[in-house]
Amino acid sequence: MKESKRVSEMKPDEIKEEVRKAYTRVADINVGCGCEPEIQTSSSCCGDSSSKVVTSVNLAKALGYDTKNMPLAATESFAGCGNPVALASLKKGEVVLDLGSGAGLDMFVASKKVGSRGKVIGIDMTPAMIEKAKKNAEELGITNVEFRFGDIEEMPIEDDSIDVVISNCVINLAPDKSKVFREANRVLRPGGRIMVSDIVLSKPLPKKVRDEVITYTGCIGGAILDKEYLDHIRAAGFVDVEITGKAGDSLYGAYSAYISARKPE
Ligand SMILES: C[S@@+](CC[C@H](N)C(=O)[O-])C[C@H]1O[C@@H](n2cnc3c(N)ncnc32)[C@H](O)[C@@H]1O
Repeated sequence: MKESKRVSEMKPDEIKEEVRKAYTRVADINVGCGCEPEIQTSSSCCGDSSSKVVTSVNLAKALGYDTKNMPLAATESFAGCGNPVALASLKKGEVVLDLGSGAGLDMFVASKKVGSRGKVIGIDMTPAMIEKAKKNAEELGITNVEFRFGDIEEMPIEDDSIDVVISNCVINLAPDKSKVFREANRVLRPGGRIMVSDIVLSKPLPKKVRDEVITYTGCIGGAILDKEYLDHIRAAGFVDVEITGKAGDSLYGAYSAYISARKPE
């Protein structure tokens, strides 16, 4: 039997193509995760290991989302590992950018917080997710949101135009994380802030786990050490860089962290 390709042998664009394929499936068939049930963990975008098929709706509920007041279409392809909007202290009138916005759940929650004078822009590189999020926004009648197709390593966003960058379980999937944080710094206005939930590591992953495509797309294989993650954020020009909390359990030392930072004035 032909062995599948190892992540360490793939070019960044090939990795992104695998990620896009995985999240096209999440958008289309509503499995809520880019991986298989056997590597699901409550601390990753993969859901809960206690059940083979855990819906995205349950994952969103467990992370504190008010799913009762969201139509199913907005939560069924949720693939986050935290609830960054709950901690981002958004204010009326702010412009928010969601990196890897998926089916749009965080954008819809944020859109209520920033109100009609504010705006939420989502970037995603999976066309099926952009389409799904647009449809969800239409069904919800939310008009202060905008969806942009693109790569968070090269954001289609103007310099100094964003008040708050949020992201939920996405940056671990980017082959070049330092580029993502440099871009986040570029688009934020001076004094702007970033609040992400993402999978990071407390110890290095076993090589076999790191090298499997399925583990990478499932938000574990591409995760880096927590210390290294914070160093990338600092190197991009941010200050007050800290892990403010954790969500869920750890698998192979991989856990979901809330991380915040600020662009200096
Ligand atoms: C685990 S899902 C999280 C989606 C959403 N944030 C949520 O909480 O439901 C990852 C999403 O990030 C997108 N993504 C991954 N890498 C990306 C990149 N380099 N640029 C833009 N989007 C990316 C995927 O297409 C997918 O929609």
